[in-house]
Amino acid sequence: MIFTILTLFPDIFHSPLQESIIKKAFDKGLVNFNIINIRDFAADVHKTCDDRPYGGGPGMVMKIEPIYRAMELVESIYGRPRYVLLTPQGRPFDQATAERYGKLAHICLICGRYEGVDERIVGCVDEEVSIGDYVLSGGEIPALVLIDAVSRNIPGVLGNEGSVADESFKEPLLEYPQYTRPEVFMDMEVPAVLLSGNHEEIRKWRRKEAIRKTLLKRPDLIDKLAPTEEDGKFIREIMEEFPE
Ligand code: ADE
Repeated sequence: MIFTILTLFPDIFHSPLQESIIKKAFDKGLVNFNIINIRDFAADVHKTCDDRPYGGGPGMVMKIEPIYRAMELVESIYGRPRYVLLTPQGRPFDQATAERYGKLAHICLICGRYEGVDERIVGCVDEEVSIGDYVLSGGEIPALVLIDAVSRNIPGVLGNEGSVADESFKEPLLEYPQYTRPEVFMDMEVPAVLLSGNHEEIRKWRRKEAIRKTLLKRPDLIDKLAPTEEDGKFIREIMEEFPE
């Protein structure tokens, strides 16, 4: 899968894309990155990419022409990718979107800066995406968040294909608690069932604890769960542990 990134700050991407899972995916030829500096597409000698807003007001607005020219270059080489603008006004990014993007051959992420991008960009992109209800200094960190989440869904990237399916949000449940050695740390013990070797008991414990965690930390997610009969029993048992 190709990720093309249009940005005024290409250096932000270099280190995060050269570490860990993404680096391994790149080395295996499963992902590739084109990091394009929008400034290279500015028309004037000053390489201007922003300007004052029409109608007045504070701050600067990113100009559309340099972005559009960068898009034209991308299309002349690869054909039209899926264009995604990172903006706090976009649709909330979630696991389902990460899985959907993971099936694309080529996605082009456009990173806005300043007070935003000239609104006419909206007519040029396929989707606008936000990574949460807070305002960051630009779309670069959101683009990295998206690349990380999407890459994990590309077959072969994690090596162990089971890891993706087991993770939180495949179902609307948080992950069950995990432990590793030592068995006792500062008087805190690893739950005995995990040392028992009884795989069925371990499965049941993990399912119940995943439900418990979700009820406590993200009760909104439980409403989206299609509970099995066993899940229903676990939910009742957990609720009964709480005093009225
Ligand atoms: N640019 C600035 N803030 C953002 C956010 N929360 N999501 C996506 N892009 C952004």
